This record gives sequence, C-alpha cells and structure tokens, in this order.
Amino acid sequence: MRKPLIAGNWKMFKTVPEGETFVDGLLGRAHEFGDVEVVVCPPFTALHAAGRRLHGTAIALGAQHCHWELQGAFTGEVAVPMLKDVGCAYVILGHSERRQYFGETDERIRHKALACLGLGLRPIICIGETLAQRDASQTLQVIERQLRECFQGFTKAQAGQTVIAYEPVWAIGTGKNATPAQAQEVHAFIRAWLTRSFDAAIAAQLRIQYGGSVKPENALEIMRQPDIDGGLIGGASLQVDSFLKIIVATKQAKQGAHTTCSSPL
Ligand code: PGA
Repeated sequence: MRKPLIAGNWKMFKTVPEGETFVDGLLGRAHEFGDVEVVVCPPFTALHAAGRRLHGTAIALGAQHCHWELQGAFTGEVAVPMLKDVGCAYVILGHSERRQYFGETDERIRHKALACLGLGLRPIICIGETLAQRDASQTLQVIERQLRECFQGFTKAQAGQTVIAYEPVWAIGTGKNATPAQAQEVHAFIRAWLTRSFDAAIAAQLRIQYGGSVKPENALEIMRQPDIDGGLIGGASLQVDSFLKIIVATKQAKQGAHTTCSSPL
C-alpha cells in the first residue's frame, strides 16, 4: 500500500532565515513523523538554505513550480536541473494559484512533469474544480479532463512516480475544507481513472493528496478516508506546531492501514 505524504506549500512566505528557523524546528520533531513522508516546499530563494539543512534527514525538499526546458533564455524561470542541484525531490505543478494568476495550463503541466520525471524529481500535479463547476455538478467531468490532459502520453512507469493533489479551488485558503466524504468521492474517482488509464497496480501505488484548508482540527477525519494518502498544506504548514499536528494526525489515521511502498526513481 501507500506511504502517506504530507507536503507544506509555503507559497510566497518566508525569507531565508525564517525558512531555516522553521526547518530546524521541524527537524527537532522528526521522531514524531512515524511512517509519514514529509516534504517542505519553500519559495525559490529559500530552497538552497533549506536544502543544506535537510540533506540526509527525514524531511524532503520540494519546489512550487518549474520550467519545462532544461535551460535557456527564459527570464525569471527556474529549470529542473537547478532544483535538483539544491536538493529538491518534489515539484508542485499546476497549483490553482498558478493556473488562476499565471496562466498555467494542463499541457504545460504535462511538459513540466515529464521534465521532472526525466531527471528523477517527482511531480505533485494539482487538480481541482472551482465552486461554479461544483455547483453545476461538473466536478468529476473537470477532474477527468484535467487528468486526461496532464497525463496524456505518460508511460506506466512515469505515472507511477507521480503524486496527484486533489485541491478543490473553493477550499484553498478559504477555511472551507471539502467534507471527508466529498474528498473521498473524488479521490476514489481519480483512482478508478488511473486503473482505467494505466492499470490497477499503478492506481494502487500512486499517492493522492487532499489539499484545501487542512488544519489540525480536521486532518484526522480527512486522512482516515481510504483513498486520501496525505495532504498538500498551505496556511497550516507555515508554523511548525500546526504542520506537525497534521503530520501526527495523518500517522494516527493511517496506523495499521498500510505498509510502505515508495520506490526510488
Ligand atoms: P490552504 O492551501 O491549506 O491554505 O488552503 C492549500 C494549498 O494551496 O495547497
């Protein structure tokens, strides 16, 4: 079964010293993680400093975005080899804020994911419906379209190294999380799609995180859902205490429910 994965998306928060203080604080509590894999995703400027502290520890490093070319004249962009160079193991792709404010498309997400996979970084591909789409009962249709376009042409091996984050747009940063049942319904749908599009083994292996207003107070119930394999945490990942509480709640929710199967690339 799947090793739960909790990732902290710091977004555009934390300077280098703030990031270092956070990482030191969280490292001091790493003995509480149990069988939960933990990732922090600082802004680009703090990646290098955080990566130096995290090297060889129980916490992995992730970036929030990347370009699909390996180098070139793309002012302001950061390439996958650069992320690898500072110690990243994960890259968040297609976050709804990048889709909404920076014109991210499923096609670009696919190219970026393939660039990551080619160099041994795991993409965390974010998908999710808006409130208008949910209200119009289009949630599953939207999710299926995003999956189809993001995973088009992936081999089974490539799909198997990917993480999906289901993040309903209306739940991000709003304090309104999806109910555990609403989230589980979409997660089960995603897993069924993976079975149809790849095979049952890939579907059983691939981790699907929930994201959107996960807090210490609601984490246990959300993480108890059988197809929810961890979370992509925004606001509550900025303080060691609240982030750790979510990690510990995930450990408790999954205790006895899985064994590890996170294979190296
Ligand atoms: P939130 O953000 O936890 O603050 O809702 C989640 C995300 O944007 O990934």
